[in-house]
Amino acid sequence: MVYFLILTLTLKTVEWKNNSVIMIDQTKLPNSLEYITFTEYTQVAEAIRTLVVRGAPAIGVSGAFGLALAALQSNATEKNHLINDLEIAKKILFDTRPTAVNLAWGLDKIMDVAKNADTVDEIRSSVVETVKQMAEDDVQINMSIGKNGSELFNDNDTIMTHCNAGALATVGYGTALGVIRATKESGKKVKVIATETRPVQQGSRLTAFELKHDGIDVSLIPDTAVGYTMANGLVNGVIVGADRILQTGHVFNKIGTYQVATMAKQHNIPFYVAAPLSTFDLQNRPEDVIIEQRKASEVTGIGDKRTAPDGINVINPAFDMTPPELISGIITEDGIAKPPYEESIKELFKAN
Ligand code: MRU
Repeated sequence: MVYFLILTLTLKTVEWKNNSVIMIDQTKLPNSLEYITFTEYTQVAEAIRTLVVRGAPAIGVSGAFGLALAALQSNATEKNHLINDLEIAKKILFDTRPTAVNLAWGLDKIMDVAKNADTVDEIRSSVVETVKQMAEDDVQINMSIGKNGSELFNDNDTIMTHCNAGALATVGYGTALGVIRATKESGKKVKVIATETRPVQQGSRLTAFELKHDGIDVSLIPDTAVGYTMANGLVNGVIVGADRILQTGHVFNKIGTYQVATMAKQHNIPFYVAAPLSTFDLQNRPEDVIIEQRKASEVTGIGDKRTAPDGINVINPAFDMTPPELISGIITEDGIAKPPYEESIKELFKAN
C-alpha cells in the first residue's frame, strides 16, 4: 500500500526532463503503465488530441510544455521570428481540443512570458523555467484543493465520482480525487463509487486504477446505475472535476456529469465540483462554449470489438453543462464558492 501511495504522489502524468516532455500513455491504462518521450511540439499536440494525455489541468500543462519544445525547436535568431514560430505552434496546440479552458490558459501564459523576454536565448530559458514551475504549482494547487474539500465529507462517507479528475488528469494528486485522498489522509474512512464513464471509460480505466493502487475502497458502476445507487442510499456525496467554469457557476465537465448532478438533486445528495482557478472562464457565456464532438468509433465499439451496426449515426459529445442550481459548492485552491455563484466567484478572483 505504501509503495502505491508513494506511486500516486510520485506518479507524474506529464513531466519536463532534459528538454523533452515525458508523459504516461493513458490509452494503455490500466493494463500497462507506459511512458512516452516527446521532443517535438506536434507530437504533444497529437498526444492531446488522441487522449494519450487528458484531463483539463494535464492538457493545460502539456500544451505549455509543447510550446516550450517549439521554442527550442525553432531555428529563429531574432525575437520576432521566434514569436512568430510560437504563434504557429500555439495554434496547432490550441486546435487539438476546444472545451477545457486550461489549454488556452497554459498557452497564453507561455506566450506572455515569451513576449516579455528580450532575446531569443532569454525567451527559451524563461519559457522552460515557467513550464517547470507550472508543473510544480499544479501539484501544490491540487493539494490545497484537496485540503479545502476534505472538510465537506464525513467519516464513513461513500463518495461518487464521474470520469477521472485524479493524478492522471493533472500533473499529480488530482482535483476531485485529491479531495478524496485528502479526506482519507485526514483520518476519515471513505469509500468511493466510480462510474465507468463511457465511451472512453476514464472511470473504469483510470479512476479505479488510481484509487485501487492507493488502497482506497473503490467500487465501479456502469453509468446507468447512478440512479439505482442513489435511490438505494449508497451515496453520501458526489465530487467531480471540471473543464470550464463560467462566472455564472455553469460547469462544463465530462459527458454524463449533468445526469449525475440531476440525480443527486433528486435525492438531496450534495454535488461538489473541484477545480483550480485556471479552469475558470470569466469571459464567456454558456452558449459561447464549444462542446467537443468526438469520433463515432468511440461509441460503436470497445477496443477492436464492434458493438453497433455498421454506418449507424452517432452523436458523441465529450462534455456537457451542469447549471449552477445543481451544484452545492465549487472547491478551489483559494476556498469554496457557494451559491449564488455570480457573487462568490467574483469574491474568489477579487482576492487574487
Ligand atoms: O475527455 P477528458 O478525459 O479530457 O475529460 C476529462 C474530464 O472531464 C475531467 O473531469 C476534467 O478535465 C477535470 S480533470 C481534473
